[in-house]
Amino acid sequence: MSKKRESWGSNVGFLLAAIGSAVGLGNIWAFPYKMGRAGGAVYLIIYLILAVLVGVPMMVSELAIGRKTGLGVVGAYHKLSRRFGWIGWLAVLSPLLILGFYTVLGGYCIEYMCLNLANLGFDRHAATGQELFAGMLTNQFGALMFTFLYLILGYLIIKGGIKGGIERFNRVGMPALAIMLVVVIVRSLTLPGAVEGLKFMFLPGYAVSHGYIAENPGFISVLATAGGQMFFSLSLAMGIMVTYGSYLHADEDLLKNSVVVVAADTIVALMAGLAVLPAAIATYGTQAKLNGPSLLFVTLQDVFNTMGAVGPLFGAVFYLLVLVAAVSSSIALTEVLVTFLMDHANLRGKVGDRRKISLWVSAIVLVLATIVSIDGLGSNGLWVPLKEQLSYVQEGVVRYVPFTETWLDFLDCLSEGLMMPLGALLLSFMVSWEIKPETVLHEVGTPMQAAWVQRAYRVCMRVIVPAVMVLVLMGQISDFFGLKWF
Ligand code: PHE
Repeated sequence: MSKKRESWGSNVGFLLAAIGSAVGLGNIWAFPYKMGRAGGAVYLIIYLILAVLVGVPMMVSELAIGRKTGLGVVGAYHKLSRRFGWIGWLAVLSPLLILGFYTVLGGYCIEYMCLNLANLGFDRHAATGQELFAGMLTNQFGALMFTFLYLILGYLIIKGGIKGGIERFNRVGMPALAIMLVVVIVRSLTLPGAVEGLKFMFLPGYAVSHGYIAENPGFISVLATAGGQMFFSLSLAMGIMVTYGSYLHADEDLLKNSVVVVAADTIVALMAGLAVLPAAIATYGTQAKLNGPSLLFVTLQDVFNTMGAVGPLFGAVFYLLVLVAAVSSSIALTEVLVTFLMDHANLRGKVGDRRKISLWVSAIVLVLATIVSIDGLGSNGLWVPLKEQLSYVQEGVVRYVPFTETWLDFLDCLSEGLMMPLGALLLSFMVSWEIKPETVLHEVGTPMQAAWVQRAYRVCMRVIVPAVMVLVLMGQISDFFGLKWF
């Protein structure tokens, strides 16, 4: 007996969940820095063009594939395509790998939120951001416990289902995130010297002329970075939009929904920039670490430390904000796996037990997350796969290029670095040449009826998406493996 499949309670509920999946650590710790480093406003324009020409068509395609088949990612691709059906497996494997490290980072956010809460009301600088961070990474048991807590939080949401769990969380979480972001932006922009951060972020060439980075990256490299960032940030080629689309009602407008998600994600990325960069740069100038975990857990904690008695309050609000952004992304990643297993049970005539399946998925994620958390971003001397594998000989000496320094790097390199652009490239081939763009256009219906929209969609899927994905793939390989193509 197969049970009736769930669906979203409303289109707004779906939108908030999709925006929640898109808005994550990528928006907060990567976008603002990448924008500043790669030419400020110029980067933003390139990013926006790519978001329109690549992001929107890819998102429409994924949502349409999900809604048409009414299945999670493995079932959906298999149902539609004989030749490319297997990419569904790529799209369940990469979320699993990403969860392996996303969960640990989420745990760090809980830990930092607690640290700031515990300091509420005190004006004390017990430890610097660097000391706190190093202490956290090397305290393996502590980190593991917070990772575990984060996983339990995700499990509690996921087991509530699409409408009663994911939609409910995002209905409260997303508006709350927006409010907290505005609070932090006001504080950040009113710090003396904040304008320097805005210049870093928006003025072309400022990062180089003021010593934040050594040299301007070339155009192709900017294009590849912007493309990769856009993909990760919009949660594309991860099975998420197929999965979320499979719970959408037939009468929802997929084109409008895609445009709203892309716009909201970009706006939040810019807002996150206004929240973090002016504060970091006002306090530390060119010494500030502006990217990745160091920005979040070292620089910004130091900024809160310098704020006196209100510092812990802003700190607690900020890390709660990051936590909400992370949770809404990781429940989307988890749902890809849960939906896949639920559908699998359904297809075999059984009724999938969401609770049990969520528990199993969380347990599998825990295995990976345990390794990442014990590794502590390479602080604890754990063996890391593919470490120092590339070698070259220079002046008779064999030199090694370490391209995965930590377990987080390793999982990120496989998933975000390789599987995501590869999956997207194959998806564009599948839509363009096997199932044909008409399948997607037909599923979307009226909103994409105009002849020029249809023509534009075909050109994007056949030419622009594959070209950008090849560039992104080359860019990621050069980033991760230290190879220089451009
Ligand atoms: N989009 C999320 C971010 O910006 C990360 C993510 C990637 C979430 C892929 C789900 C899938 O951080």
